[in-house]
Amino acid sequence: MEPVNRRDFMKSVAVAGAVAASSSSVGEAEDAPTGPVFLSTWPFGQAANERAAEVFHAGGSLLDAVEKGINVVEDDPKIMSVGYGGLPNEDGVVELDAGIMDGTRHRAGSICNLHHIKNPISVARQVIERTRHTTMAGEGAFLFALKMGFHPEQLLTPASLERWLKWKATPNHVTYWITPEHHDTIGMVATDGQEHVVAGCSTSGLAWKIPGRVADSPLVGCGFYADDNAGGASATGDGDLMTNYCTSISIVRMMERGASPQEACNELLRHMARTDPKNKDSQSAVIAMNPRGEVGAASMNAQFHLQYAVWKNGRSQLLDSVILY
Ligand code: GLY
Repeated sequence: MEPVNRRDFMKSVAVAGAVAASSSSVGEAEDAPTGPVFLSTWPFGQAANERAAEVFHAGGSLLDAVEKGINVVEDDPKIMSVGYGGLPNEDGVVELDAGIMDGTRHRAGSICNLHHIKNPISVARQVIERTRHTTMAGEGAFLFALKMGFHPEQLLTPASLERWLKWKATPNHVTYWITPEHHDTIGMVATDGQEHVVAGCSTSGLAWKIPGRVADSPLVGCGFYADDNAGGASATGDGDLMTNYCTSISIVRMMERGASPQEACNELLRHMARTDPKNKDSQSAVIAMNPRGEVGAASMNAQFHLQYAVWKNGRSQLLDSVILY
């Protein structure tokens, strides 16, 4: 591919307005990072970042840090969109998806529709470290997890079971044969301060989804992507929609061509809106980081406004993303 400089890139995507919109909310222009940086989606990302920083400073690798950081959210039963306590599919079964990628090795591991194992990000990590595969799904993923020493457990909590029973009992309840509902995923992008990048993502998927449904989170290049030469990205929201835009790799390739993380996030969402104006009303949000630790985050609209967490220079912050429409 022809190298494109930053000015050419800016001209080609005409993002000047979006850049102006971004400068007040995002910490790009703030203190330059002097070590690792951890960037995660949603307020629960703060605890994930803090754990990741702890693991990294205790001598863990960046992959260890991202995995263990995401485990915090997977383990929390109060978070009903990720891991243990995540809302189940329409049959009442919790099916988890996750993926993690090492930007040095260009190597990802991912897991789809995993049942009865609460830490799919850790199983995905084992796919990288112990196999030559990239993605494992369903029963095979479950049996693989058992072989890797993970223990099966009931992932429905009293609270998530009650929500499912209430949904079942509601006449004409919403189903995913047609209609979407709100959804939050943990996505994390990290750098070690030496231009090594890792990205990961974990979710229980949409509540009441049709069994077997797989959306963006565990798909390499969709829910997450990392490349030490260009940066990393992750997505949260309507994964059925965003899968069609290969959001994370699209953002990373824009950064490779010279866009800042914020410009790349904005442009991805604007592209979605240009190709189908209905997407302006969608639940779509993205985060990105370049290898130098500069970050960006954008939400399509105010109804699905992403708050994102940044851990940098020893400080843990929660920030509001840019809203595009
Ligand atoms: N973005 C997560 C999902 O749609 O499952």
